[in-house]
Amino acid sequence: MSEDLIQRVIIPDLIKKKEKKEKIVALTAYDFPSAKIVDHAGVDIILVGDSLGMVLLGYVDTIPVSMDEMIHHTKAVARAVKRSIVVGDMPYMSFQISIQKAVENASRFIKEAGARAVKIEGASSYRLEVVEALKEAEIPVMGHVGLTPQSINRNGCFKVKGKRQEEAEEIIKQAEKLEKAGVFSVILECIPLELAQVITQRLKIPTIGIGAGPFCDGQILVFHDLLGYSNGYLPKYVKKYVDMNKILTDGINRYVEEVRDNKFPLDKHSYHSKELERSFYSKKEPKKF
Ligand code: KIV
Repeated sequence: MSEDLIQRVIIPDLIKKKEKKEKIVALTAYDFPSAKIVDHAGVDIILVGDSLGMVLLGYVDTIPVSMDEMIHHTKAVARAVKRSIVVGDMPYMSFQISIQKAVENASRFIKEAGARAVKIEGASSYRLEVVEALKEAEIPVMGHVGLTPQSINRNGCFKVKGKRQEEAEEIIKQAEKLEKAGVFSVILECIPLELAQVITQRLKIPTIGIGAGPFCDGQILVFHDLLGYSNGYLPKYVKKYVDMNKILTDGINRYVEEVRDNKFPLDKHSYHSKELERSFYSKKEPKKF
């Protein structure tokens, strides 16, 4: 076995981490250079989320994201990653049509793109069947309950789920059913921390929270949100660790200014030819650097 394989995070490590109460760190990534940074930072799970439709491709929600777009980005991420578990997010309509289509699409993430698992939103009885079929095909699945962005057209907006007792009980049941169907972990998105704590206590598999408070077994954020590199509205649960928009804007503004003011490029950024220097520059008209 190569050293890379020995060092890889594997799915049983996540269960061990939960048992030892060690936090699991997850983050999204969508391309080669960012995945490299995230992997080097020691993140356990890299999700190639369909959020890429919003933060990278400029769609208003995740609905238009296609399988081909997901495969394209997952390939780039998988090429960069040595250690983390890469999870491909099954986009809207990639698993709803039939179990067969769901297995075909999930297997594209594994065979074609190099992911090691997939994620599916929701926990309807049909989705539980999909989870079971994928388990049969040896494809590990991550569940996702609470706010499920692919339900935007039914819900009308992105808002916190499970504030009321009845809805909270329903989310607990969904998480338990997903565990029974065989998911290896479950994302809890935008639910009260009290509810996330109960689910985390009841499940043997790890819970990974986003807007679900500190009691989950792990946390995930969208890469562009935590780095201040997204242009839209930032939800309350995001902590912006740096302001990439500002850093990039400053850099690009300086470049624009320096090109216009003849301050870039300088001699040190240019190539030289002694022969051309002798033939092209006369004594009367010396070079200008
Ligand atoms: O698509 C995504 O990035 C996600 C995370 C927000 C969990 O589903």
